[in-house]
Amino acid sequence: MTSPRRSHWDDVYTTKPADTVSWFQDDPTPSLDMIAQTGLGTGDPIVDIGGGASMLIDRLLDAGHSAMTVLDIALAGLAVAQQRLGARAGRVTWIAQDVTVWQPPQDAFSIWHDRAVFHFLVDEADRLAYRSALDQGVRASGFVILAPFALSGPERCSGLPVRRYSADMLQAELGPAYHLIEQQRQTHMTPAGNHQNFIWCLFRKTPTSAAAEP
Ligand SMILES: C[S@@+](CC[C@H](N)C(=O)[O-])C[C@H]1O[C@@H](n2cnc3c(N)ncnc32)[C@H](O)[C@@H]1O
Repeated sequence: MTSPRRSHWDDVYTTKPADTVSWFQDDPTPSLDMIAQTGLGTGDPIVDIGGGASMLIDRLLDAGHSAMTVLDIALAGLAVAQQRLGARAGRVTWIAQDVTVWQPPQDAFSIWHDRAVFHFLVDEADRLAYRSALDQGVRASGFVILAPFALSGPERCSGLPVRRYSADMLQAELGPAYHLIEQQRQTHMTPAGNHQNFIWCLFRKTPTSAAAEP
């Protein structure tokens, strides 16, 4: 059965052109900069959580990345990206699933990237489920890039309530197995010309699970 959450996002992507939604960015420079900051190579596996129709995947393909997965609850969002990419879509693994029920392969990813998705998880149970997927999917010494709305950001996105974050709050969500390496504030200008404040955080997972014990 289709969940209300999935219906919401499928409706968004079927009723609005992808370049008109508030989160659209033609140039995903903040993501590319943080991915570059990890120092990892183009063969290291990256997952874009809630990637939807984002242009990030196009830019990573342009840069030669070859091990990319895009997960999104909205099949319609993924379809927009796939159509835009054409034959290049075949170089990407696409997963249409709610991240809070996803069971990723153990230690599958070197980089977990999430722009404007985690902040929709306003219920603690959903955040715990997200964290469980993240713990399972991110390998030791892997990187986590989280970019939700900052404390000064909007209270809603796409008509839904969001939870806004500081770097300390994100650190508390991830727990001691993840170390904050970098934090940046960024103001996104929506296609309608409004400003939205984001907090960008780069975390690194500890090298061994034993080191993750508090
Ligand atoms: C604000 S958009 C951001 C899209 C993309 N990350 C970007 O920066 O352009 C939020 C995205 O998260 C997806 N999404 C929302 N809740 C989700 C969930 N529980 N699991 C997976 N994807 C989700 C939506 O379908 C949508 O594509």
